Amino acid sequence: MNATDIYNQFSAEYDEWFERHSNLYQSELSALQSVIPEDGKGIEIGVGTGRFAQLLNIQYGVEPSQAMANIARQRGIEVIAEDLPIETATFDFAIMVTVDCFLSDIPKAFSEVHRILKPKGIFIIGMIDKNSPLGQLYEKDKANSVFYKNAIFHSVEEITGLMQSAGFDKFQYQQTPTYPTNTETEQPKSGYGKGSFVVIAAEKTNT
Ligand SMILES: C[S@@+](CC[C@H](N)C(=O)[O-])C[C@H]1O[C@@H](n2cnc3c(N)ncnc32)[C@H](O)[C@@H]1O
Repeated sequence: MNATDIYNQFSAEYDEWFERHSNLYQSELSALQSVIPEDGKGIEIGVGTGRFAQLLNIQYGVEPSQAMANIARQRGIEVIAEDLPIETATFDFAIMVTVDCFLSDIPKAFSEVHRILKPKGIFIIGMIDKNSPLGQLYEKDKANSVFYKNAIFHSVEEITGLMQSAGFDKFQYQQTPTYPTNTETEQPKSGYGKGSFVVIAAEKTNT
């Protein structure tokens, strides 16, 4: 089964995770909120069931799994079909949360994000750092995981390098040092290297 088949089959289970782990969900949200522009038109690539887009006031999403997209639509997100080309320089910001590990061609995906952003648009990635304790655990137990069986985790340095190559700079990092053992919402700390869930934000250069 490929990732889309898995997300089609287990969309309800995926969505329920956020109910059972509301402290982790809120900690991830706080880290994303700390870098998301206060206004402007945003899009979430790999919007899933819309849990982040809905609370971050992001109206648009792209999602290959129809079952996930249907739940996101119920949350008010306009899910754009993947094969429908988005016009150049449409969005002020784009986010991607735990999606990097499923992309088969990251340079192509990141340059497409660069294309659809307006000049000085912000690209925000939320990810599990491969070099963190949780990243190493996920990597080790991946064969037993429904959702991460096919995932390829990356380090913050790898993703930063790929974003730079796609034409982004002015990097900012936020991390959650006690994730996933925190029992309450964690306030993010700047930087990376101490947190398992890391948010990277960077600006589109004019190239
Ligand atoms: C771990 S889920 C994250 C969903 C959502 N961003 C969230 O954090 O709840 C990964 C999502 O990436 C989507 N995905 C997989 N490959 C993708 C691709 N090439 N482009 C966009 N989304 C993709 C999956 O269908 C799935 O919904």
